[in-house]
Amino acid sequence: MDAIHWIDPHAAVSGTRKGCKSTQLYLLVRVWISHQFFVLANVGAYFGILNEEHKGIEDSWCSRMRYNQHKRTAREQGVWLHHGGIYMEFPQSVELIDVGPRDGLQNEPIPISLTQKKELILRLAQAGYKRIETASFVHPKWVPQMADAEAVAEYCNELGLTYLALTPNERGLERAMAAQVPQVAVFIGASSPFNQKNINRTTDEALHEVASVFAKAKANGVFVRGYVSTAFSCPYQGKVSFPEVQHVVDRFVQLGADEIDIGDTDGHANPRGVYERFARLQELYPQTVFVAHFHDTWKMALANTLAALQAGIRKFDGSVGGLGGCPYSPGASGNVATEDLVRMFTEMGVDTGLSLPAVKEAAQFATSLSSRLNTCSANGG
Ligand code: HMG
Ligand code: MG
Repeated sequence: MDAIHWIDPHAAVSGTRKGCKSTQLYLLVRVWISHQFFVLANVGAYFGILNEEHKGIEDSWCSRMRYNQHKRTAREQGVWLHHGGIYMEFPQSVELIDVGPRDGLQNEPIPISLTQKKELILRLAQAGYKRIETASFVHPKWVPQMADAEAVAEYCNELGLTYLALTPNERGLERAMAAQVPQVAVFIGASSPFNQKNINRTTDEALHEVASVFAKAKANGVFVRGYVSTAFSCPYQGKVSFPEVQHVVDRFVQLGADEIDIGDTDGHANPRGVYERFARLQELYPQTVFVAHFHDTWKMALANTLAALQAGIRKFDGSVGGLGGCPYSPGASGNVATEDLVRMFTEMGVDTGLSLPAVKEAAQFATSLSSRLNTCSANGG
């Protein structure tokens, strides 16, 4: 353990920590020495980039991002764990958004009553969530479980919640605005075959149509989340390339998305791919707020969360009880369970603002609503 140094850049840089001058001097010297090791360790990585450029663009972006990311973090509050030239970052807090009432329930084959949905939303609100994704203003024939979106929205308004609802097109947005939904989410996959199954459009048709949704929502002061689904792989085409993801992200950025949510729709992402993709996105769009949305088909969602955290992501979706799945992503299992996220972050000393016992109670209730949860294959599709 000798080679591990806890570095608190906030205390060292600001000099506001109370204590005797010799302690402050000792801390400064230690941080300076650690910094020299850090520079040496990263010079190698940096030159590695130049030699490896031909091997794969994502690798080089990853190394360069690591170098830049660590430089940036030195100016922020937070703690690094340094071991032999490898750095881990632990922010003071993250935001967890529960998508259980929407993503969690949308794929349930047996109808869930409005009363049960209200109960779930109430339990989540009581557990401390600041934002919950509760409904979908999609065509009820395409997703019958979301047919009562207006009634769900009315209840969320009564509770005074900040909540999100899916709006795939202008018709969906009109319905959401009439129901006074504060935050809407458009969703377009990076892969065209998925879009054709999910929203009956190619990627480019969907990107064209969504412009009016953004324009109308923004003109009315409605917050817009842009989901990029199938951002790692697609149930119909297999692997999804970075340029396919960038194509959708570019358009969302142009249209003024308030946040962009990168979705591992079929749950086939792995931590390396997640780190590289998020690192590169943040390098390309430094002003954009990205959110990570992992499904847990291959049981890598927690590992993927940690990889995204290391790449600088601070907002994560989860679904209470691990419910969920997209009806048009066959074989995919639910989202990462929010109670697992809460436990992991809490144990790591990262604040989520949520009460684990209350989230666990909500998870028990959520699980009791699901008729498919225990029938999903652990190996996914
Ligand atoms: P379409 O059939 O092509 O629609 O469906 P259309 O534009 O041709 O219109 C046909 C009729 O539907 C018209 O009515 C429209 O008014 C009506 P008519 O004139 O014939 O009487 N219509 C609507 N009605 C109610 N609400 C609407 C709406 N839009 C049109 N919003 C559509 C296109 C997008 C509507 C359909 O494909 C659809 O609803 N798809 C939703 C699929 C879905 O919800 N999938 C799950 C969510 S995505 C997901 O889970 C992934 C995510 O979690 C991220 C991740 O995991 O990566 C977000
Ligand atoms: Mg999803």
